[in-house]
Amino acid sequence: MSKKHFFFWTLITSVILLAIKCLKQQSAQEYFYRAEIFRSRNITILLWHWPFGKPYHLSGDVCLKHYGIHRCLLVDNRSLFSQADLVVFHNRELQSGQQILPLHLTRPCGQKWVWLSLESPENNGNQSLGGHFNYVMTYSRDADITIPYGTLVPRKAEDCSTTNNLVPKNKTSLACWVVSNYQKTHKRSAVYQKLKRIIPVDVHGRAVNKRLDADSLLPTISRCYFYLAFENSISRDYITEKFWYNGLMGGAVPVVLGPPREQYEAVAPKHSFIHVDDFRSIQELGKFLKKLAMDKERYSEYFAWKKQYNVKLYRDWQERICMICPKLNNLQ
Ligand SMILES: *[C@@H]1O[C@H](CO)[C@@H](O)[C@H](O)[C@H]1NC(C)=O
Ligand SMILES: *[C@@H]1O[C@H](CO)[C@@H](O)[C@H](O)[C@H]1NC(C)=O
Ligand SMILES: *[C@@H]1O[C@H](CO)[C@@H](O)[C@H](O)[C@H]1NC(C)=O
Ligand SMILES: *[C@@H]1O[C@H](CO)[C@@H](O)[C@H](O)[C@H]1NC(C)=O
Repeated sequence: MSKKHFFFWTLITSVILLAIKCLKQQSAQEYFYRAEIFRSRNITILLWHWPFGKPYHLSGDVCLKHYGIHRCLLVDNRSLFSQADLVVFHNRELQSGQQILPLHLTRPCGQKWVWLSLESPENNGNQSLGGHFNYVMTYSRDADITIPYGTLVPRKAEDCSTTNNLVPKNKTSLACWVVSNYQKTHKRSAVYQKLKRIIPVDVHGRAVNKRLDADSLLPTISRCYFYLAFENSISRDYITEKFWYNGLMGGAVPVVLGPPREQYEAVAPKHSFIHVDDFRSIQELGKFLKKLAMDKERYSEYFAWKKQYNVKLYRDWQERICMICPKLNNLQ
């Protein structure tokens, strides 16, 4: 065999070996399933039970009707199990034993099971469900399907009417906190106890018997310079509506207690919040807030992000689940 031929056959053999390796990695079934998706047929998502037992009344193609998502059929009728491409299970009800996985049913080829939770690991319980699920759907950035509590979306060029009054007027409180679940063992409780000795903190919520109804929550917060967006547990990427809704949408600068600053900066501008960890002590934090509130110009810099972005909240289970469809093609 000539040198030329030798090279030729080595190349061919390598290509074939590589192809076999690739095919092995992805079973034929998997390959077929993904090809089907690309063929733009309807994806049927069966929600096995509604989160927190609160059903929506699905009628028609809700993903298209409400969110403009095509070919994504959300159903909650369990008799459609055998036709579902994906079945979604919300963890809370599995955790409490109110619901169980339908392991007695024959799972159609290629059907994917999705484990859904918006709680931090600390609150997800310990049941071992491993082995049954294909995808994890949660708030964290490295989940198979990420469903954040909120995000920032760039403003449209024509949407510049409100860039003049970025800072809400009529601030009457320095710092505010809305808390329903107050527990001494939470880190946030210790921080609050220290902070309130340095600056006044207006506390609302169930924990202090001063509930705010949905309509008065944001107007109340907008009268505060700072909002204590303190998470109930500290874990990776766990940034909840306390930041997105109460803080950023409420019009008070969020003072955050949660994952490290870099994880906030991965989802929001550096200068849209103040991180408790930025300070050596709570005393220093308190002093800083007091000074900042009196410096109109510096304070207003914390609202500059509003010129470029709007807050988009995700609060609706239907929307969250419909959002699986556009993400499906990126999944392994
Ligand atoms: C996909 O779903 C829509 C809405 O229910 C329906 O009108 C359409 O016929 C379906 N297409 C296919 C290919 O099943
Ligand atoms: C669920 O689907 C089955 C089979 O398509 C149908 O007979 C039944 O009426 C549906 N149930 C509800 C509540 O829509
Ligand atoms: C979960 O498991 C961990 C370690 O095995 C244990 O320390 C913890 O108490 C358990 N939590 C619950 C809620 O059972
Ligand atoms: C702020 O207070 C002034 C005077 O009390 C009032 O006229 C104005 O409507 C208030 N603005 C807002 C946005 O609440």
